Amino acid sequence: MDGLLTVADFEAPAAEALDPVHYDYFAGGARDEITVRANTSAFARIRLRPRVLRGRGTPRLATTVLGQPASMPVLLAPTAFHRLAHPEAERATARAAARAGTVLVAAMLSTVAIEDIAAEARKVAADPVLWFQLYLQRDMGFTEAVVRRAEAAGVRALVVTADSPALGHHERNDRNGFHDLPPGMRCENLRELRADEPGHVRQVDLSPDLSWAHVARLRALTDLPILLKGVLHPEDARIAADEGVDGIVVSNHGGRQLDTALASVEALPAVVDAVAGRLPVLLDGGIRRGTDVVKALAYGACAVAVGRPVVWGLTVGGEDGVTRVLDILRDETAHTLMLCGCGTPAEVSRDLVLAGPPC
Ligand code: FNR
Repeated sequence: MDGLLTVADFEAPAAEALDPVHYDYFAGGARDEITVRANTSAFARIRLRPRVLRGRGTPRLATTVLGQPASMPVLLAPTAFHRLAHPEAERATARAAARAGTVLVAAMLSTVAIEDIAAEARKVAADPVLWFQLYLQRDMGFTEAVVRRAEAAGVRALVVTADSPALGHHERNDRNGFHDLPPGMRCENLRELRADEPGHVRQVDLSPDLSWAHVARLRALTDLPILLKGVLHPEDARIAADEGVDGIVVSNHGGRQLDTALASVEALPAVVDAVAGRLPVLLDGGIRRGTDVVKALAYGACAVAVGRPVVWGLTVGGEDGVTRVLDILRDETAHTLMLCGCGTPAEVSRDLVLAGPPC
């Protein structure tokens, strides 16, 4: 990994190492991929307006999210199918996140079971913070079974993905004929545990029938904090707060659902204003630099999450690759805070950013 200095540097060697069909699955997005590109270009259009001579010393990045500790305001977003990237799959990702002391949002569609992900994280940290991303299933009995597994594994929050009433349409996958995992790989969290169907692995059910009523039913069946992921409209953020949701992840699913949806950082300020401090707001989509992290904090996010950068790190170097990607983001975020005159993430305020024409 010598010579890989930036997060972006990891993509080319990852593309080289991956089966091109799997690279397209990870890198691609919906339709014309306009939103994929918008997520990163929107950050480039925002300019930082630093403060000087504030004597804040070396920045301290440690923070809390939902009252839970994170060594920096950068989390690992849920991304499916890590075994396509590396034979150690989510096991390696879990160790890297735990070693970094930050939150891993484990994907429901992981190729390693949540129990094994948790066990792996505990090998390197006494008390790793693990959250679980959930696609609500209309079969609430099965949803409950999955939630109970996650609870028993020790996860500390559920991240409900709300932006997927159907699969996004990825034309790269269509052209490549990629619609299923290769033989031997499975979504281990979808395996039936019922005695009458041992070993059977379900298909995930993404449905346009899902509504706030399903969120209410989830709320009633678990005491875990619930975050809603995939919110872009301020009205939905307001409803989420009224419905007893505990946090919001502003996200367009990395441009993989609705193409031409606005960039996640463009959606952020209105969502932050709508919830008016009632809930913590996180953001993912297009974070590639420490400056992107600080811009999201300035608009009011308490933390951000990264998706593809983790996959590229995993592909290139397994656990060490993910560790390196997280270290780069940590160093860049600390450096940016210092150059902005801030000593902690909490000191980043909205006056530090100006939206403007493309750089
Ligand atoms: C995702 N994402 C995602 N989100 C989710 O809620 N459940 C999932 O199973 C997946 N799977 C997934 C696979 C891959 C390959 C990617 C790239 C993304 C979306 C993810 O959580 C996050 O929203 C984006 O990845 C953030 O954008 P960046 O950081 O990739 O630009």
